[in-house]
Amino acid sequence: MNTWWQHAVIYQIYVRSFADSDGTGVGDLAGIASRLPYLAQLGVDAVWITPFYRSPMADGGYDVADYREVDPVFGTLADVDRVVADAHALGIRVIVDVVPNHTSAAHRWFVAALAAGEGSTERDRYVFRPGQGPDGSLPPNDWRSVFGGPAWSRTTRPDGSPGEWYLHLFDSSQPDLNWEHPEVRAEFADVLRFWLDRGVDGFRIDVAHGLVKAEGLPDEGTDGPATLLEPMASKPYWDQEGVHEIYRQWRQVLDAYSTAESPRIFVAEAWVSDPERLSRYLRADELHQAFNFGYLKAAWDAEQLRAAIDAALATCLPVGAQPSWVLSNHDMVRHPSRYAPDDPELGERRARAALLLTLALPGGAYLYQGEELGLREVTDLPDKVLQDPIWERSGRTERGRDGCRVPLPWAGDTPPFGFGPDGMGQPWLPMPPAWAGHTVERQLADPASMLRFYQRALRIRRELGLAEPLRWLPAPASVLAFERGDGFVCTVNLGAGEVELAAPGDLVAASAHVSRHDDRIWLPTDAAAWWRR
Ligand code: NOJ
Repeated sequence: MNTWWQHAVIYQIYVRSFADSDGTGVGDLAGIASRLPYLAQLGVDAVWITPFYRSPMADGGYDVADYREVDPVFGTLADVDRVVADAHALGIRVIVDVVPNHTSAAHRWFVAALAAGEGSTERDRYVFRPGQGPDGSLPPNDWRSVFGGPAWSRTTRPDGSPGEWYLHLFDSSQPDLNWEHPEVRAEFADVLRFWLDRGVDGFRIDVAHGLVKAEGLPDEGTDGPATLLEPMASKPYWDQEGVHEIYRQWRQVLDAYSTAESPRIFVAEAWVSDPERLSRYLRADELHQAFNFGYLKAAWDAEQLRAAIDAALATCLPVGAQPSWVLSNHDMVRHPSRYAPDDPELGERRARAALLLTLALPGGAYLYQGEELGLREVTDLPDKVLQDPIWERSGRTERGRDGCRVPLPWAGDTPPFGFGPDGMGQPWLPMPPAWAGHTVERQLADPASMLRFYQRALRIRRELGLAEPLRWLPAPASVLAFERGDGFVCTVNLGAGEVELAAPGDLVAASAHVSRHDDRIWLPTDAAAWWRR
């Protein structure tokens, strides 16, 4: 059985910000197609493309109005077919997003639900409830939206009087679906088939831990905002047992399309911090992968990273799955900025070391577009350009996620750096002029660039073909050292100063200069190295 995903490097394309083929200022599918050779040269095994479905774009496309149509800003179904065919021709697999927790308020089901009124069967596909209090003016329970504010919005009746409330764990324009409803289940099984018929190799499942809500929608009993990032223990809307039945059904749908040469996969966005709970999503008849967010959340600290790695291994190994590591995505502050908020040079050093650590671990890895260019979070976007719904829903106290979504710089010396065709206007978010030094064009010409470093690391990883499990080696407290089988060792120095170690073998890759004298080596601070015995 071909288990390509277990060791794959999968590149996340945030489509709005990757490459713009037609000068709208927004990235699109034809833009992706034109840059596939770049991704082949980078050396990735697959891409995950974020939602390109028809959407009012209240949440960057995670508010889907039609699951089977491409939004005109991104292109057409024919463009999807071209991306899939061209990627496959280059040996790159294609994973697309599925967003099952909520639709857009512009989805025909929600439009019909609002029009049909209270008590209608149309409303059963969502979570409508009467309010509390004598006049129903209080929300049905105390749940809070992940994006800030209450998780309920009140409807207005045709006569203008206030009516029922509906649940939205995210923006008010993203009503939660009722997964107890058989039509909801049937519809999504069909949506999966629709994209599988078009040849996609798998799905990333948005908010995979959120679909089923606790019976009776009990109060959660806390006043803080809901958050995706905190441990999920016992929230009545996360990680309910009933989600597993859904994924077992989905797995049957998917497996009907899988062949021995080309199995299709699911990867879960499941913010479930308890390893035992998370491992349930990875059982043999459910999903293939789940992002390791514990690894992403760990600070640049040996103890924290080691604990996150151990937790991920404890999640996956008992159920026969392999971990999938991730350091950045379109929801999180880019990791060079997380690891060194005020020091770009330090951030880049740590990001190089983090890449070697990540690529040496057992399992697969997800890269987020732009990390191969060493891009940092953009922290000075003016208020007026912010688009993330978090900005408004938090009462303009949280700036949201736009800073990691700024379009990629491809070429040239001034914004928009070849993001779109020559002569185009400004992209949907402004690009920092200082990115002139980070363009793909500039970095391809510089053997010492981050991009060239990523290309080399991916090539060497592929050549090494590591398959053995990880075994920690004795090392100073601030050093991570492990071997894979007998032949490969990775060492990472997270301490404040250079460390002297016994040479673990011959150097095959390093994120910084490593000195050697006979059988002793000196590994600088914030550096990683790979060794072959
Ligand atoms: C997780 C996605 O990654 C994020 O971008 C989105 O806002 C929420 N799910 C809601 O769909």
